[in-house]
Amino acid sequence: MSNVVVVGTQWGDEGKGKVVDLLTARSDMVVRFQGGNNAGHTLVVNGKQFIFHLIPSGILYEDKKCLIGNGLVVDPEVLLEEMDKLKAAGITIGPKRLSLSEKAHIIMPYHRAMDLARETAKGKAKIGTTGRGIGPCYEDKAARTGVRAVDLLDAEVLKEKVAANLKEKNFILEKFFGAQPLEADPIVESYLRMGETLAPYITDVSVELDQAVKNQKDILFEGAQGTHLDIDHGTYPFVTSSNPVAGTACAGSGIGPKHLHHVVGIVKAYTTRVGAGPFITELEDDVGDYIQERGKEFGATTGRRRRCGWLDLVVVRDSVRLNGLSSLAITKLDVLTGLDRLKICVGYEIDGEAVGQRPANLRRMAACTPVYKEMSGWQDDISGARELSQLPEAARAYVETVEEVTGVPVSVISVGAGREETIVVRYPGE
Ligand code: GDP
Ligand code: IMO
Ligand code: MG
Repeated sequence: MSNVVVVGTQWGDEGKGKVVDLLTARSDMVVRFQGGNNAGHTLVVNGKQFIFHLIPSGILYEDKKCLIGNGLVVDPEVLLEEMDKLKAAGITIGPKRLSLSEKAHIIMPYHRAMDLARETAKGKAKIGTTGRGIGPCYEDKAARTGVRAVDLLDAEVLKEKVAANLKEKNFILEKFFGAQPLEADPIVESYLRMGETLAPYITDVSVELDQAVKNQKDILFEGAQGTHLDIDHGTYPFVTSSNPVAGTACAGSGIGPKHLHHVVGIVKAYTTRVGAGPFITELEDDVGDYIQERGKEFGATTGRRRRCGWLDLVVVRDSVRLNGLSSLAITKLDVLTGLDRLKICVGYEIDGEAVGQRPANLRRMAACTPVYKEMSGWQDDISGARELSQLPEAARAYVETVEEVTGVPVSVISVGAGREETIVVRYPGE
């Protein structure tokens, strides 16, 4: 292989975990570079389901190294739980298999408290966050008051930081939100304890990657969330607080852009979204329910029912530009089986006039109506297809339309949740 970046092209949950698992077999290391445990990446191997929130989806391969980059916000309690669960499932976890960047920011109890208090206060206008403290942790990173993984190893620094932070957060929690204040000592104590357990894993990930590049290792970069949840390029303010675009693979792990060779964008064969925010092709009818049920569209992190709609190629086309996509992996094509007619959104209009890109102004976006290309559906079960030629003609036409409208070749088609339920047209980066 070569160094490949995997990103979501829609609003997350495109099936990144499954594709990362597939490509891990051909790489040496897997790196996460942004987000936190707002992510939920699902893989199904030999009929067994695994959901990862922080640890890269490559961890099931015993001979691969997994790294958590500086661009993440890490809840140490969740990380330790995830490590324990894997150990219980018989998977070896140790510093040889997993590294945590010393520069990754740490989610503290006051981040979770602020996330929840803010969402509650917003009422109907809430973003529908995962409530994991992601936004408030990134806020502290930008404000230069954050706690980093390396601080968990220094009692004096941690004590000072927690005390200074709580002075401000408790004021806001109590006086502004009417919420409970938090006590410093138990927080410091429990975070120092978790730091002790994590100490052997805390390293300089950038240096490890540099070494890997020098040894000509193949590195896989695992994005979380999706391009339209990007804090800069997404449907702001209905976004997450990091940059899920491919460019972050560099800043979020400490590697230079010349070392990235291929960017694969994951495209779910239809569109889903969890939480609030604009969604032009949303289906609030029987077809939407059909897709939601067949696709088992419930959040892997919060269990919330995902909103479903037709494939929106305006959204995907924006992602082609924003990520510089080399190829596409289409997932969950099997979910569309059984529908007589399918629609693909190929453009937006406002009052009959074509709109090129998704508008940044959300009021303008709300005024957009989708322009659909209608296509025939297929009835045959496609989950057994392992080559393009084994797909019904209508399914092949659907894939070809995606290629034509986006101008990007399809490298992978996923026809089921299982590792083997995949058509590889061409391995990304080969
Ligand atoms: P991620 O966050 O992008 O990794 O995606 P999620 O894991 O949150 O959601 C994708 C869901 O679809 C998971 O439950 C996967 O097991 C499942 N999945 C992935 N690819 C396919 C596919 O091709 N067909 C079907 N039916 N399910 C799939
Ligand atoms: P993966 O990696 C889908 C959404 C939340 C909410 C918004 C902000 O599994 O694709 P946050 O807690 O990040 O501040 O919430 O972003 N969101 C996701 N939606 N998949 C995800 O991750 C998501 N991570 C965050 O639902 O609308
Ligand atoms: Mg997910």
